Amino acid sequence: MSKNNKKNVSRNLEKINHFVNIKDLNLKDLRKIILDAKTRKNKRKKMGTLSVDKDAPLKGKFLIQMFEKSSLRTRISFYLAIKQLGGSTLTLRPDELHMGKGGESISDTAKIISSYGDIFLLRTNDDGKISKFKSSLKIPIINGLSPSSHPAQILSDIFTIEEIKKKNISSLKICWIGDSNNVLNSLIEASVKFNFKLNIGCPISYKPAKRVLKWLRENKNQVKIFHKPINAIKNSDVVITDKVISMNDKVNKIKKIKSFKNFIINLNLMKFAKKDAIFMHCLPRGSEVTNEVFNSNKSKVWQQATNRVCVQKSILLYCLKMLG
Ligand code: CP
Ligand code: NVA
Repeated sequence: MSKNNKKNVSRNLEKINHFVNIKDLNLKDLRKIILDAKTRKNKRKKMGTLSVDKDAPLKGKFLIQMFEKSSLRTRISFYLAIKQLGGSTLTLRPDELHMGKGGESISDTAKIISSYGDIFLLRTNDDGKISKFKSSLKIPIINGLSPSSHPAQILSDIFTIEEIKKKNISSLKICWIGDSNNVLNSLIEASVKFNFKLNIGCPISYKPAKRVLKWLRENKNQVKIFHKPINAIKNSDVVITDKVISMNDKVNKIKKIKSFKNFIINLNLMKFAKKDAIFMHCLPRGSEVTNEVFNSNKSKVWQQATNRVCVQKSILLYCLKMLG
């Protein structure tokens, strides 16, 4: 085999840094992302929204984003993230593509995306699509939310929690009250990776999926599940929730919302958390939290949304192996 061919083979075998689930990454890489986000955020003080970081590390790089479901925060924050790193992006909707309308295969679509772009982000209704793309792509894929996972959201939330609490998350007690959805799955994975206490408060019939519980049993964890919200929230440092009905949730919505009526986060419930506890929500919100809590000084939802730009920049750099 010629020298060039050998080089190509070893390049093909080289591991691609995808960002699909928190559990796929090791703690060292997760920490590198958070540290880089902190450093970059500090250096950007007083810079304009679209000003490029001094080192412009992603100059000439192209992020292709595809959204099969609605998004406000994820699409705009990834747009800002790549722009602030000196690169560029294009957002696609499935109804604009042959893949959605004309039946072009995922595999062919992935090959074309790989030849035009440097990173691909997908928000999808189907976890299987992420796996299919992953197997045909030659560039990293970022999961921009799937039915089972929302890793960019949770990594960013850990950054925000440590920024506000000025403590390593492993010394904090985190509480989730609400549905066992994609965001919670990523939080559960993060609790194992970052080694923090996580109390989950949910109705018995809406506890995490069997495969999530099985993964938890196979890993050292500090996760506890309660079916009375007061027991879950007691002495928590951070209280997190999300909509009871997620996008594409194919359930009887009225019945599901009724099942969560005792799990609404109100000022009374918040009293059982620590005095200096904070409230977080990835947004958009529904009826799972009262306006009083959402608009209180405990609520950090706006800072949480803004920080997505910072962390996603470092996720992009991780994917392109530029985090040292
Ligand atoms: N939190 C979040 O991912 O928001 P969007 O659905 O608006 O992207
Ligand atoms: N669980 C929500 C998160 C939205 C950001 C959903 O999937 O719709």
